[in-house]
Amino acid sequence: MLKKLIEISFYLRKLKYYLVARRKGWKRTVLDYYRWELDDSRCKYSKICDGVTTEEEFSALESSTVWYLNPQSSDICLNIGCGIGRVEKLLHSKVKEIHSVDISEAMIDDARERNKELDNVHFYANDGQSLKMFEDNFFDIAFAELVFQHVPKSVVEDYVAEVFRVLKPGGRFISQIPTKGKYKHMPKELCAWMTREEVDELFSSFSGKDYNSGGTNEWYHCPIVIK
Ligand SMILES: C[S@@+](CC[C@H](N)C(=O)[O-])C[C@H]1O[C@@H](n2cnc3c(N)ncnc32)[C@H](O)[C@@H]1O
Repeated sequence: MLKKLIEISFYLRKLKYYLVARRKGWKRTVLDYYRWELDDSRCKYSKICDGVTTEEEFSALESSTVWYLNPQSSDICLNIGCGIGRVEKLLHSKVKEIHSVDISEAMIDDARERNKELDNVHFYANDGQSLKMFEDNFFDIAFAELVFQHVPKSVVEDYVAEVFRVLKPGGRFISQIPTKGKYKHMPKELCAWMTREEVDELFSSFSGKDYNSGGTNEWYHCPIVIK
């Protein structure tokens, strides 16, 4: 009985979240993400990575899709939706430069503070769909990690077009696209969930080659695409 009640309350809270998010639209929902409406007791670390509650645990997290790109010391790297700068701490010594963008000024302020000793890492608050602060053919690698579940498909399409503008020829891009299996309950205007066929269609219009080394799990498709 208690289990049933807990389950019902979980689904009611989720339903409330979707209804509020639908009313506010994706941009305001994302900007409020820093405060996390679903559960105010969650700290900023667990908002970004479930189960993590301290700076020490957060900084020690090594898992990232960027490693699939095999970063090199000459690489200039773009991180889309960087949050409070988790990956930068581990990546900065492996590449030449990192440029990281996030729609949220609050996230960017924290990211700058957490990484202030790193002089090859630069943070920018952006408009949530363009990379207009960067010139064409500037980056060797780009990635968007745990981001596209917060935005509509049209925003992903805008970002992919921008990524292919700012990547050098031969540059590599990995992104996590939410799968239909896990996200189909989300309205598409709030979450860019796609079928594998839609992912292939999106990337084939930009690139000759999607070699898909990132694979697919139940939550995300992780295509690696080369310009
Ligand atoms: C779950 S956090 C992931 C942070 C970071 N990528 C990581 O793996 O640690 C999602 C981040 O994406 C950012 N974000 C969501 N939509 C965005 C958009 N359209 N443009 C840029 N950043 C966005 C959020 O503000 C948040 O910082």
